[in-house]
Amino acid sequence: MAQEDVFKKIVSHCKEYGFVFPSSDIYDGLGAVYDYGQNGVELKNNIKQYWWKSMVLLHENIVGIDAAIFMHPTTWKASGHVDAFNDPLIDNRDSKKRYRADVLIEDQIAKYDEKIDKEVAKARKRFKEQFDEAQYRATSPRVLELAAQREALHERYSKAMNAGDLGELRQIILDEEIVCPISGTRNWTEVRQFNLMFSTEVGSTAEGASKIYLRPETAQGIFVNYLNVQKTGRMKLPFGIAQIGKAFRNEIVARQFIFRMREFEQMEMQYFVKPGTELDWFARWKETRMKWHQALGFGAENYRFHDHEKLAHYANAASDIEFHMPFGFKEVEGIHSRTNFDLSQHAKYSGKKIEYFDPETNESYTPYVIETSIGVDRMFLSVMCHSYEEEQLEGGDTRVVLHLPAALAPVKLAVMPLVKKDGLPEKAEEIIRNLRFHFNCKYDEKDSIGKRYRRQDAIGTPFCVTVDHDTLKDNCVTLRYRDSMKQERVPIDSLQAIIEDQVSITSLLKKLL
Ligand code: GAP
Repeated sequence: MAQEDVFKKIVSHCKEYGFVFPSSDIYDGLGAVYDYGQNGVELKNNIKQYWWKSMVLLHENIVGIDAAIFMHPTTWKASGHVDAFNDPLIDNRDSKKRYRADVLIEDQIAKYDEKIDKEVAKARKRFKEQFDEAQYRATSPRVLELAAQREALHERYSKAMNAGDLGELRQIILDEEIVCPISGTRNWTEVRQFNLMFSTEVGSTAEGASKIYLRPETAQGIFVNYLNVQKTGRMKLPFGIAQIGKAFRNEIVARQFIFRMREFEQMEMQYFVKPGTELDWFARWKETRMKWHQALGFGAENYRFHDHEKLAHYANAASDIEFHMPFGFKEVEGIHSRTNFDLSQHAKYSGKKIEYFDPETNESYTPYVIETSIGVDRMFLSVMCHSYEEEQLEGGDTRVVLHLPAALAPVKLAVMPLVKKDGLPEKAEEIIRNLRFHFNCKYDEKDSIGKRYRRQDAIGTPFCVTVDHDTLKDNCVTLRYRDSMKQERVPIDSLQAIIEDQVSITSLLKKLL
């Protein structure tokens, strides 16, 4: 099945099984805004727990905060977001549709890659076993011509982006004869900068109202609280502040479901270090964060680092952790060495001294910062994409199963009476009454056992137990494992011991040490 079709299936599975709904669904949704349903919220909370505990529980020197979404408007002047948090935007006059100029050009670059891949695929078919791909790519005149065109375009585009040359971006779009996918025309407006921050007003009267922003990243809530936390927590460098919270960006191009949203959630940690040690910490945090991802068991081959060549003016190193989504390797997390830019800017704009007194050297300085920043929703999407499987069973049957890591699964155990009579439902409820304090259990008595298993497979429940007539005599149940579908008879008294360890977040955390 084409990866595009797999992705479509995952999106509809998310809706059908209560993971993710379009926002305001009864009004036909709101672009790039989504709601999490009864199963989605559990999975999302488990991801957040895994991250939070890995930061705050496993590191003596990392503490958490929960800052407000609204912040003093000067925050965003100091951070540079008012002046520079922009995307280049272009409109098509015929369709009235708005696009990101950089995305139109990047799509065009990707088209050259697709053309090259097509040429290679054609040659592979023609030459069969004798085909030497590397040699073909290095010698085929058609491939070389396309590669040269691609390189020239890429270079021109990078130069224009680096220089912030909006006229040149428009010229590239015209020269490449890029058309609007809706109208099919090349009737483009000028390219303009579009600030991604949402704004609103505080104050009840028109005169007293002032413009404030919905935060586009949670990080600034940490920076402005650096002094509060350092002083009240008597924190010594190096130390970290972690936060999970909503962020808002007025994304022009919202694509790929919950990958790019206008309202999303971030898990960010700012690690304050002594100047000069930041690149060492940067390397250590890259490793720590990669380990966190890989502990989920999705396979090391599905992750890669993308080190940034072009750095923001305040950064001296930056790298993304990318995950293999059905639409290619995509950024899930960013790790940035942000120097002392943010703290210095806030010191400048607030007039407050934001420094650290180092008792070892008797000097004061502005700490440097390593940031790890991961999107909860992108993490959720990567977990879903990797876990979804349409499995072919013996006998020609198929089942849709989510191979979620047990610690992240919304429901850990489903308890099912074989029939709805003879005291079996009461026995099933008794099992749940005892186990519900330890992990999330669900009762299910509707439809055949086979259908009930399938329902639980589809939401990723790692364990099911069936209560039958023998249970009333021997106090044993049939325990069924989601991935292997194996079943075994076990005493009710042993259920907690068998299941609890495997479904707890602690089981993941232990892999990090
Ligand atoms: N404080 C640094 C910062 O915000 P970023 O690379 O802009 O850096 C960090 O964002 C992470 O937040 C990304 O790696 C991604 O996972 C998530 N993210 C950013 N924009 C997003 C969006 N529009 N929708 C969903 N997640 C987003």
